[in-house]
Amino acid sequence: MTFLHHYPKAAKVAKANFIVAFIALAIGGFFGFVQALHRTDVFRGFFNSGEYYSILTGHGVLLALIFTTFFIAGLFVWGVARSLDREPESMAFSWAWFWLMTIGLVMAAVTIIGGLVPGSSIRAAVLYTFYPPLQAHPAFYIGLALVLVGSWMAGLDWFWSYKEWRKDNPNERIPILTFMALFTMMMWYVCTIGLALEVVGLLIPWSLGWVTEIEPLLPRTLFWFFGHAVVYFWLLPAYYVWYAILPKLSGGRLFSDSMTRIVFIIFLLLSTPVGYHHQYADAGISVGFKFYAMATTMLLLLPSLMTLFTVVASMEHGARQRGGKGYLKWIGKLPWDSPAFVGCALAGIMFAAGGFSGMINAGMNINLLIHNTIWVPGHFHLTVGTAVALTFMAISYWLIPQLTGRELKFKKLALVQPYAWFLGMTLMSNAMHRAGLAGVPRRTAEPQYSGFEFEPIFGTMAEMDWQIAIGGTILTISLTLFLWVITASWLGGAKSDKPVDDYIPEPLSGVEHTPAVLDNMKLWFALALIIVLLAYSFPLWEMVQDGIFEPGALPR
Ligand code: HEM
Ligand code: CU
Repeated sequence: MTFLHHYPKAAKVAKANFIVAFIALAIGGFFGFVQALHRTDVFRGFFNSGEYYSILTGHGVLLALIFTTFFIAGLFVWGVARSLDREPESMAFSWAWFWLMTIGLVMAAVTIIGGLVPGSSIRAAVLYTFYPPLQAHPAFYIGLALVLVGSWMAGLDWFWSYKEWRKDNPNERIPILTFMALFTMMMWYVCTIGLALEVVGLLIPWSLGWVTEIEPLLPRTLFWFFGHAVVYFWLLPAYYVWYAILPKLSGGRLFSDSMTRIVFIIFLLLSTPVGYHHQYADAGISVGFKFYAMATTMLLLLPSLMTLFTVVASMEHGARQRGGKGYLKWIGKLPWDSPAFVGCALAGIMFAAGGFSGMINAGMNINLLIHNTIWVPGHFHLTVGTAVALTFMAISYWLIPQLTGRELKFKKLALVQPYAWFLGMTLMSNAMHRAGLAGVPRRTAEPQYSGFEFEPIFGTMAEMDWQIAIGGTILTISLTLFLWVITASWLGGAKSDKPVDDYIPEPLSGVEHTPAVLDNMKLWFALALIIVLLAYSFPLWEMVQDGIFEPGALPR
C-alpha cells in the first residue's frame, strides 16, 4: 500500500503544494531562458531592457522563493505524516496555510507581471532581494508577507502533529524524517524574524507612503539577517532527501542517525549569524562584525563536509550491497539508470563545486573581486539552482507516484533529464564564473560584449555570453522534459497499488547510538537565539541609534 492510501489527506495537501511549485518552476524557468538569451547580441528582441528587470525579478522570486517554499512544504507534509504515522491534525488548518501562501504568491506575481504590461502602474521590478532603494507596489510586499505567515503556520502544523504524536509515544525518539523537518523549521523561525521586521516594519509603510525616508543600511541588514539562512532553508530539504531517501535509492541504508541530527543542529545554530558576509562591501558595518561573519561562515563548511562523508558512505554501502568492489569501482554499481538516483547524485556533485566557489565568496578580501559580478549567479546556480532544484526534480520521480498512485511514464526521458541539466549547468555556470572573474556584472540588461556572429568571439567575453546562452538553452530543454514527464505521469500514468518501492530501511548506526540531548529542541532553539543576539544586537543598535528612518547616517 502506498502513501496515497495510508494518508489520503496528507497526500492531498502535499499534491496541492507540488502543483504550485511546478507552475512556479515552469514560469520562472522560462524567464531564465529569456535572460540567458538576452546576454547575447542576437536573441534579445523578445523583451526590451526596461522589461528585463521585471523578468529577472520574476525569475528570482518564482524560483528561489516560491518554487522552493512550496516544494519544501509538500516534502515535509509527506515526511511528517509518514514518519509519525498520522494525518494532519486539522485539514482546515492545513488548507488555511496553503491558501494564505497561494494568495500571497498570486499578489506578488501580479505586481511583477504588471511590469510587462505597457502603462501599468502596478510594478515590482525590485529583484528577489527587494530591499530599498528599489521600491515595489505595496501588494508585492504584502503578498510576500502572506507567504511568510503561511509558511510559519505550515511549520506549526508539523509541530502540532509532533505534539500529538508525543502524547501517544512519550518515550520514543523523534523519527528522523520529522526531526529534520522540525529543525529546518526552527531555523526558519529564527531567520525570518529579520525579514518580518524589514517587510512589516519598514517596506510596507514606506511603499504605502506613510514613511518617506528610510535608512538604507537597516533594511539591507535585516534582509541579510534572513538572506543567508534562507539558503539553508532551501538546502536542508535537499539534505533531507540525501540523508533519508538517497541511501535507499542507492540500494543501501543511511550511514549514521546521530551524524544526521548533529548536522541539522549545527545548521540551526550557525545559519543566521553569518548574514554579514553578504555585506562585506557595505559601509557602516564595522569590520570586526564582518570578520566574525567570515569565521562563522567557514565553520559552516563543517556540517556540509560531514554531509558529504555520510552521504557518500551510505552510497558506497548501497553499491557494495549491489556487488560493488574495489576502492572506486563500486561507483559503477550504483543505479545509474534510475532518474531519481541520478538526479540526486549529480546534484550532490555540483554542490561540491558550488561549495568551492562559496568559499571564495565568503573570504572578506577576495569577495571584493567577485562582488556583484556574474560570478555570483554562477555560484548559486550550482547550489540552489542545481543542488536544490535538481534534487527536488529528481525526488519528484519517486514521490509523485506515491502521491498519485500512478506509475512514472517516459522513464527514458526522465533519465535523460538530470544528465541534460548537469551538462547545461556545467556550461552556464562555468561561463558565469569566468566572466565574473573578468568583471562582467550581474543583474544588467546591457551585458553585450560584441556584435554579430561574423566577429571572432572565441576567447572574448562574448564567448562566455554564448556559453551562458547555450547552457541556458540545454537547461530549458531539461526543465521541459521534467515538466512533461511529471505532467504526463500525474495525469496518465498507469494506476497501481504500489507504483514505486517506498520502503526506507533503518540506518546502519541507528538511533540507539544517538545521545538523547540531540533531541532536546528547546535547548537548541534557545542556543540559536542567543548566538543570533550576540551577532546582531550590537551592529543593529549602532544602526538605529540615530533613528530608524534617518537616511544616510553612518555610525561613528
Ligand atoms: C539569475 C538563467 C534556473 C535562481 C539568473 C541569470 C541567468 C539565469 C542568465 C542572471 C541574470 C542577471 O544577473 O542578469 C537561468 C536558466 C535556468 C535557471 C537558464 C534554467 C532554465 C534557476 C533555478 C533557480 C534560479 C532553478 C533557483 C531555484 C536564480 C536567481 C537569480 C538568477 C535567484 C538571481 C536573480 C537576481 O539577480 O535578482 N538565472 N536560471 N535560476 N537565477 Fe537562474
Ligand atoms: Cu550567504
